[in-house]
Amino acid sequence: MTKEDRYIALLPQVKALCEGEADMIAKMANVCALLHSEFGFWWTGFYRVMNYELGVMRSAAATGNSELVLGPFQGPLACMHIGYGRGVCGTAWKERRTVVVPDVELFPGHIACSSESRSEIVVPVFEGDEVVAVLDIDSRELATFDDTDRQYLERLVAML
Ligand code: SME
Repeated sequence: MTKEDRYIALLPQVKALCEGEADMIAKMANVCALLHSEFGFWWTGFYRVMNYELGVMRSAAATGNSELVLGPFQGPLACMHIGYGRGVCGTAWKERRTVVVPDVELFPGHIACSSESRSEIVVPVFEGDEVVAVLDIDSRELATFDDTDRQYLERLVAML
């Protein structure tokens, strides 16, 4: 089974899980579990944009009181707060695009939650025009993620 086949099989499962479910944390938790078990990644999880003045998942004042806060995940313990523009996650949030990192040691400012992590992909989650969260996946192998992962993971998070 190719990577693409696996994603194609996952998409209807994610759709079924998310349809009719309003609670974002519940959906994120199950999406992480699905991805993590299907692909055997090292770490799979979400960081949510939190703004302590505007409330959960409001990124309007992104450079002010907002930060990424650890959400549902599978894998080893991870850092809990990430600033705007910091690390791979904060970069994906700031630049509003998926960031694929083939070798984390070559990414300036990479935040090493685990020394085992060698490559990473971070996909922003949009609600309307706002980034409200990011999906972060880490691998213990170099260059695990490519444009196929980017395309399917972007489709997948759009179902949340
Ligand atoms: N490596 C991420 C931090 C989160 S952990 O990988 C779970 C980053 O540079 O933003």
